Amino acid sequence: MTYSEVYAAWKADPEAFWMDAAQSIDWAEAPSKACFADAEPAGEWFADGMVNTCWNAVDRHVEAGRGDQIAIQHESPITHATKGITYAELQKRVASLAGALRMRGVEKGDRVIIYMPMIPEALEAMLACARLGAVHSVVFGGFAAHELAVRINDCTPKAIIAASCGLEPNRVVHYKPLLDDAIDQADHKPEFCVIFQREQEVAKLIEGRDFSWHGFQYGVKPADCVPVEGNHPAYILYTSGTTGQPKGVVRHTAGHLVALNWSMKNIYNIEAGDRFWAASDVGWVVGHSYICYGPLIAGATTVVFEGKPVGTPHPGVFWRIIQNNRIKSFFTAPTALRAIRREDPDGEWIRRYAKHDLQAIFLAGERADPATIEWAEKHFGVPVIDHWWQTETGWAIAANPLGIELLPVKPGSPSVPMPGYDVQVLDEGGSPLPAGELGAIAIKLPLPPGTLPTLWNAEDRFKKSYLTTFPGYYETGDAGMIDEDGYLYIMARTDDVINVAGHRLSTGAMEEVLANHPDVAECAVIGAADALKGQVPLGFLCLSAGVTREHAEIVKECVAMVRDQIGPVAAFKQAVVVDRLPKTRSGKILRATMVKIADGDSFKMPATIDDPAILDEIATALKTIGFAPEPQDA
Ligand code: COA
Ligand code: AMP
Repeated sequence: MTYSEVYAAWKADPEAFWMDAAQSIDWAEAPSKACFADAEPAGEWFADGMVNTCWNAVDRHVEAGRGDQIAIQHESPITHATKGITYAELQKRVASLAGALRMRGVEKGDRVIIYMPMIPEALEAMLACARLGAVHSVVFGGFAAHELAVRINDCTPKAIIAASCGLEPNRVVHYKPLLDDAIDQADHKPEFCVIFQREQEVAKLIEGRDFSWHGFQYGVKPADCVPVEGNHPAYILYTSGTTGQPKGVVRHTAGHLVALNWSMKNIYNIEAGDRFWAASDVGWVVGHSYICYGPLIAGATTVVFEGKPVGTPHPGVFWRIIQNNRIKSFFTAPTALRAIRREDPDGEWIRRYAKHDLQAIFLAGERADPATIEWAEKHFGVPVIDHWWQTETGWAIAANPLGIELLPVKPGSPSVPMPGYDVQVLDEGGSPLPAGELGAIAIKLPLPPGTLPTLWNAEDRFKKSYLTTFPGYYETGDAGMIDEDGYLYIMARTDDVINVAGHRLSTGAMEEVLANHPDVAECAVIGAADALKGQVPLGFLCLSAGVTREHAEIVKECVAMVRDQIGPVAAFKQAVVVDRLPKTRSGKILRATMVKIADGDSFKMPATIDDPAILDEIATALKTIGFAPEPQDA
């Protein structure tokens, strides 16, 4: 079938389409239907089926005779380790960890936070939770103690599973002090912590609260898979919204299984026995869907990579891993390719390694600039496929479905909507716009299986964030257009979320930190264009009356505060002191205009601006830190 036929088949009968897709999943009890459209707040999928994620990701492959196949391949150029874990070994390890968690009282529905670097044990912890029906919430290892504390308070975990440390190329990241600090800061206290001690750092355990990963499992009875209802939460994953309070995206079990399984074959063209690698982190949605669950549900081999695209030790490390593991589909972020291209513009490192079975490179997480796509296509000779999705959706809204057919690639576009997604571009009043016109991108409800049914503990926020602006639609928060051929173009966010090196961050959260500096009376943070990271945050600080301290010193303190309270990944390194911020007459800060000034783009003077002269002051301040070039198109 062609893509058009598959999409039309879904549109004609979504119920039949998804029930058919559900047949590839092992059910303890099959669901009576696919869509439970009336379930509050926005519908559910396969709600009355009984199923277990870990069974589908691990045990069923052992039963099917794939026990000796590598399930997880760890590649750590930072530690020089490379190791494979078979499906049979994975089953044993996960059952043992699940058994130990159960011995300490973790049961179906209990929350467990996982704070781990890119080691196979991170996936094992996720799968052990899934085995018991416990709800995991993985927190990115690069987040600071405060961010971890916010998540502990929100999802109130019974246990936290962490590693003693993470490894960055230039330093050991001491996870245990961050964890202890987070637990001190949080109002909720977990009953116990499990610490995986790494060779690079043995953390001090707190007696009675902390257990070591191995000791904790000694002599326990392995746990079997616990079937759960289709609408039982598989996990909570926090993502940035417009404020410092992150949004806890909930993923239901059955829709997640069905959608990811469908996507592995139809989007990535990966089947049981194939080898797939997503070079992301388990702390992000890409890590959940395509390092852990997707490839394992499909019975493929997945790679857990602890390293960077450049510098660990060289810009050929991705290609070496693709060669050595005969990777068939590879998934990375455009920023990673830009980093490699900067060090290896002529593709010398690429030519040193064999591509073997590589059939395509997939890009997501931020807009893929055509120059990067063209560079990669030229040097690899395989399709470079941009696809667009969000933490909220859990899998691609728009893609080029390699497993169905490769459609013509249009650089700058993540191609076409996937089945399940009726994507529309709307004007401010919510009316669909014709092809080629820019507007807000929205998806007609219901969303497909695998997408978020609500936010954890925040149903009203869910409705307000996604469902109220355009009744009957899910508001993506992205703006763009659809062309005459039905290809989507994602141009910008409509909110204050920015994307720094493929990491989704909230400028609102950074503003909350800056506002706590004793000398700062008012502040704003914007995302300015950056050739490597896509965007970088820039801070604007208005100081309280009477502050006479050196501005450079205050900026330095602010930079340190964001690093300390959000984390180094925020890459908040630059800020300027200004007298005033540009605002509308009603007091709204004109962040979009400030972005245009920073990027050197021409802009229309906002009709509602209070005092246009402030924009010149902003440009002058930005020039001092190398931003705000004169607009080229003026
Ligand atoms: N734990 C602790 N610190 C971390 C971290 C982690 N897991 N990940 C990153 N950091 C730190 C880095 O050490 C760095 O600290 P520094 O300010 O002391 O140098 C800071 O956070 C910024 O890191 P990073 O975003 O990795 O930037 P970089 O300049 O070191 O490297 C790239 C640039 C492009 C190579 C890198 O950003 C990259 O690999 N990006 C791809 C990201 C990706 O794949 N995202 C997937 C989303 S789908
Ligand atoms: P995250 O939730 O971290 O996956 O970030 C989702 C956001 O990243 C989207 O809403 C977009 O703004 C952006 N994004 C992700 N993939 C793409 C893409 N292929 N093209 C453009 N923007 C993207």
